[in-house]
Amino acid sequence: MPFSSRRPAIFLDRDGTLIEDRGYLRCLSDVVFYPEAFSALRRIKDRYLLFIVTNQSGIGLGVLSPEDVELINNHIVKTLAQEGVTITKVYTCPHTRDQGCQCIKPNPYFILEAAREFNLDLSRSFSIGDHSHDVEFGRNVGAKGIFLLTGHGQKHRHELPSRIEVAGNIEEAIIRILKEDMDSQEKEGMIRQAAKTIQKGGVVAFPTETVYGLGANAFNPLAVARIFEVKKRPHFDPLIVHVVRQHDLKKLVTETPSKAIKLMERFWPGPLTLVLSKKEEVPDIVTSGLPTVAVRMPKHPIAQSLIEQSGCPIAAPSANLFGQLSPTTAGHVHEQLRDQIDLILDGGPCEVGVESTIVSFAGETPALLRPGGVTLEEIESVIGAVEVGSHQEKISAPGMLPRHYAPRTPIMINWSEESLKVYKNKKIGFLAFQSPMDALKCSHVEILSKKGDLREAAANLFSAIRRLDALDLDLILAESVPETGLGRAIMDRLRRASGIIPTTQDSIHTFRGKGKGRYTSEDLLNDRRLEGREEDGQKK
Ligand code: TXA
Ligand code: MG
Repeated sequence: MPFSSRRPAIFLDRDGTLIEDRGYLRCLSDVVFYPEAFSALRRIKDRYLLFIVTNQSGIGLGVLSPEDVELINNHIVKTLAQEGVTITKVYTCPHTRDQGCQCIKPNPYFILEAAREFNLDLSRSFSIGDHSHDVEFGRNVGAKGIFLLTGHGQKHRHELPSRIEVAGNIEEAIIRILKEDMDSQEKEGMIRQAAKTIQKGGVVAFPTETVYGLGANAFNPLAVARIFEVKKRPHFDPLIVHVVRQHDLKKLVTETPSKAIKLMERFWPGPLTLVLSKKEEVPDIVTSGLPTVAVRMPKHPIAQSLIEQSGCPIAAPSANLFGQLSPTTAGHVHEQLRDQIDLILDGGPCEVGVESTIVSFAGETPALLRPGGVTLEEIESVIGAVEVGSHQEKISAPGMLPRHYAPRTPIMINWSEESLKVYKNKKIGFLAFQSPMDALKCSHVEILSKKGDLREAAANLFSAIRRLDALDLDLILAESVPETGLGRAIMDRLRRASGIIPTTQDSIHTFRGKGKGRYTSEDLLNDRRLEGREEDGQKK
């Protein structure tokens, strides 16, 4: 990206832009922020210096004192600071426009002053407000103006000079600014291409503020399977789904606890991932069959723009090969994955450099699943005590997480006529790779991929197991798949489900079996009802 030492700025009108225009304000209780203002400003606060410019003609008319205005201004600056948004300086014009105010005509002295004092690049700067002069003074000095329809915007719209940009509210204005930012950095073309690739089911590496991610359309199971294929992961992990605005969660999660909302409001966009109950529509391969989904709103403008333009949430793990470090530059990604993936977006080195913090709302109390870019202290300062520790060791071996969906029905991958004898007259399901073995009279059969495609098989695996598991069968026989590419991860999953690779689920078996070690098919059958369904899903 081109680098300029001069920084761009945004000059924000106060009343009608940040807060509701309620006339002459004297009491703090009269200050009502537009709810979208905080999250919108957090999206750009690291790229632009923010200034407030406010016309308080009440001072000139003698109905407000400068102290009244200062009280309100200070309160606004403080509230924004609490929301993580720094205002560099506030400029107040005390005149009425018809008093022949010298503040903005012929030139807005305060913008020029700010430009000198803070070394601003006005050609990349903006002024935003709900009066035509708010946008004009920006234009007079080479910045861009954006007119808002909030506040008095609707009323004054007809006074606007031609070719002025109009936005519904501050959030829309900020989205435009972010977009312009991209344009100016000649990234837009690449991002558009990357978004098209995502839409067509491809995988793309992209920068986030934590590490580079390897992304695919979260609602396309085949595309998500390709992520695992590219990473050569010998097992499946649940992935983080990246969104660009809180509204996108509607497609992904069933409910958002109030504490989760508080965390989002404080730390999104940013390095915080939340684990929430998932909607049925989220493909099982994204969540490894879990009833929950991990979601995060990244702060990097290229990531935001990519998600926005793709028009879908993006599932993405870190963009490295299995067992390698997470990449923090496009070069790292290039070294490992250049031949495997469709496109790498270069957004420079990652600002945070470690992965996001993961907080789960799957249990009774919120739990820290992975420390990361947002500290535990910061999280607890917003929502109080968070469960720590018990989960941490589980995280060190993600593929063995007991959080993964474990079927209630016993699964067998190696069987003989002998071992099936105890299942005579029992209900047996069959998980076939390509075509079911006709020798077996199974009551239910799931086929992973008729054409024998491992990627398709991986995409279907968790849902197929889940469907069989819902049938109240006594046993599932799972056919082995070739152990190349994604076949390795599929077999790993099947071995875990069948107890060949120990999981926490298994240690329960061992415990119930009085520690006698490997289980026989008889044990499985006997134990099945005993296992207790309370051990489902998250609570294992
Ligand atoms: O900063 C980051 O989080 C980066 C960037 C690309 O966003 N992503 C990342 O993804 O680190 P990854 O795949 O390396 O780590 C995702 C981890 C999983 O290993 C798992 O521990 C946790 O997120 N996770 C995902 N879904 C989960 C769920 N439903 N329940 C519990 N943990 C989950
Ligand atoms: Mg205004």
